Amino acid sequence: MVLVSPSILAADHANLEAETKRLNKCADWIHIDVMDGTFVPNISFGLPIVAAVKKHAQIPLDVHLMIQNPQNYVEGFVKAGANVVTVHYEAATHLHRLVWQVKNLGVKCGVALNPHTPVSLLEEIVGDVDMVLIMTVNPGYGGQKFIENSYDKIRRCKELILKKNSKALIEVDGGVTDKNARELVVAGTDVLVAGSYVFAAADYAKAVESLKNPVVEI
Ligand code: DX5
Ligand code: ZN
Repeated sequence: MVLVSPSILAADHANLEAETKRLNKCADWIHIDVMDGTFVPNISFGLPIVAAVKKHAQIPLDVHLMIQNPQNYVEGFVKAGANVVTVHYEAATHLHRLVWQVKNLGVKCGVALNPHTPVSLLEEIVGDVDMVLIMTVNPGYGGQKFIENSYDKIRRCKELILKKNSKALIEVDGGVTDKNARELVVAGTDVLVAGSYVFAAADYAKAVESLKNPVVEI
């Protein structure tokens, strides 16, 4: 069964306690997008927001770091309550060291790939990581259009994971809706991130359910 990790980038930031409590009831994880205005053109939020959500969360916090120099901040995010820390391939010079820095802090480590970054670059590291995050939009903003040629990339990622006997999950992030959820799962996705799709819905539980069991149009 696919996991759903709603991105609170699209939540009501003035009511994060209520938003977190609503997600506790229907989501598997809570996705938190940290943006530094340098790695990506936008600034979102940082450590205090992760700690604030943690106070009310009963499900794991899935922290996506879209920041330069992630090695300087991962310990802080784990202390703030992250259960999964995902760093970008493009932001890490010493990715192997960074992955083990995160894992030695006692949490899961994901590696994210921008749309232009090939899966083959993970050949030597995929056995060490707990998750690969395939970006299906260019990171920086919610509500963008899904990049259609991502399905092949997900399939290639799954093949690499199997070839290397890795246990890594595949997470997909950007433009996820009930229209592409099924195809994403068939391609090999284990975790669907969805921001605007979930938070635009009146009923978050129904939106999450529609990603897990989309109605197939004939
Ligand atoms: C984009 C973020 C995503 C974003 C997804 O940089 O990493 O997690 O919140 O938003 P939607 O689901 O609206 O594309
Ligand atoms: Zn994200």
